[in-house]
Amino acid sequence: MKKEFLDLGRQPIANKFLNKEDFDDEFFFDLKVCWDEETKLVSIKDFVEPERIFNDDYPYHTSNSFPMVKHFKDAAEMLKKKFNPKNVLEIGSNDGPFITNFDKETSVCVEPCGNFSLKTAHMGYQSYTSFWTTELSEKIKSHHGKMDLIYAANCICHIHDLDDAFSAVANLLSDDGVFVFEDPSLLKILERGSYDQIYDEHPHIFSVTALNNLLRRSGLTLFRVDNLSVHGGSNRIYAAKGNVEVEQSVADNLIEESIFGINHFQTYEIFAKRVKDSKDELLRCLGNLRHNGKKIICIGATAKSTTVFNYCGIGPDLIDLITDTTEAKQGMFSPGSHIPVVDRKSVNLNDYDYAFLGAWNFKDVIANKEREFVENGGKFITHVPKIIMLS
Ligand code: TMP
Repeated sequence: MKKEFLDLGRQPIANKFLNKEDFDDEFFFDLKVCWDEETKLVSIKDFVEPERIFNDDYPYHTSNSFPMVKHFKDAAEMLKKKFNPKNVLEIGSNDGPFITNFDKETSVCVEPCGNFSLKTAHMGYQSYTSFWTTELSEKIKSHHGKMDLIYAANCICHIHDLDDAFSAVANLLSDDGVFVFEDPSLLKILERGSYDQIYDEHPHIFSVTALNNLLRRSGLTLFRVDNLSVHGGSNRIYAAKGNVEVEQSVADNLIEESIFGINHFQTYEIFAKRVKDSKDELLRCLGNLRHNGKKIICIGATAKSTTVFNYCGIGPDLIDLITDTTEAKQGMFSPGSHIPVVDRKSVNLNDYDYAFLGAWNFKDVIANKEREFVENGGKFITHVPKIIMLS
C-alpha cells in the first residue's frame, strides 16, 4: 500500500524556465509524495507525463556544470579500468560528458531530448532519441548486440515504470555485463532535510533498500554500492545478471538505512514535519532581511530551487535575481516563482547583501569562486541541512 507523507503544494515543471508571455499558460501539478510499504520505494503520487519534461527545450546541459564534467570523466575512467567493457550504452546521455570518454564505434547513446541526442550524434556517436523501454532495448540489441556496460546517471529515477526499465536492461546486458547507475540517495535527503530533490523529474527517490527489492524482480542482483557526494549525496549502484558475488557495501548500506528508519513510515512523517519547519524558518529569515532593506540574490537556477521557491511561496518580492551559468536559462524567468535569471557575469555580486544558494550542492565551488563577495561582507544563505548564513 502507498502511504502519502508530504505535500509540497502546486509546482511547475522544475526546469521549465519561461518567458513573460508564457506566465499565463504555465502548467502546474500537485506535488505529493508517498512511501510504498511493500517495496519501500518513495515516489511522487501523481506523475507528470515525461513528454512535458524531456523534450527539445530541456535546458539542463550537464556540460555546463564543470564539477559534473570531471565527475563523469572520473567515473568513465574507473569503469573502464574495473570492467574493461567491449561496448557501452548510456541511458540519458544528455550532452555527452560521460559517453565522450568512450570510443564512438563501440558506444550507444539513448536520450529523449532531441537537442542533446543531436549533439552526441554530431560528435559521431550512435544516438537514439528515445525514452528507455524494453521495446528500444530490443531494437538496440538487434543493431548492436548485447552490451557489456549499461550506465545511467540521474536518469533511472526519472522513469515511471521501473519494472520495464530494469527488464529492458536485463534484456540488453551481456551475461557477464554490468549495469551501473547513480541517483540521489533517499537516506541523504532524509538526513539533510533536502526536500528540494523532490520535483517532477524525480518520480522516484531511491534507497538502496528499495532498489535491492526492485532489481531482483527483473532478474538483476545489486552487488555493490558506492556512496557519492554529488547532488548532495548519491548512490552509485552496480547490478548484474545471475549469481554474482555481493560485496560488503550492499549490506553496509542496507543496515545503515535500516538503522535510520527507512523501513518505517514514522521516519517519513518526521521528515515532513522538518520540511514544514524549514519553510517557516526560511520565510521568516528572508522576510526579516527584506524588512531591513537587504538585497538578496540567488546563485544557481536549479530544479531544486524551483521546489523550494514554489513550496515556500518565494518570488521577486524576496529574491531580486537568480544567476546561472547555463545559457539556456539566462534571460528567462524561474518556473512558478517568476524571478529573472541572468548570467553571473552581468551582475556585480557586491551590490547584494545575501546570496541564497540555489545550487547548495556546489557550495564549496561557489564559495571559492565568490571569495570577493564574502570579503566585502556578503553572506550566503542555505536551507540544507537547516537555514544558516555562511560567510
Ligand atoms: P544541479 O544542482 O541540478 O546540478 O544544477 C546546478 C545549476 O547551477 C546549473 O544550472 C549550473 C548552475 N551553477 C552556477 O550557476 N554556478 C556555479 O558555480 C555552479 C557550479 C553551477
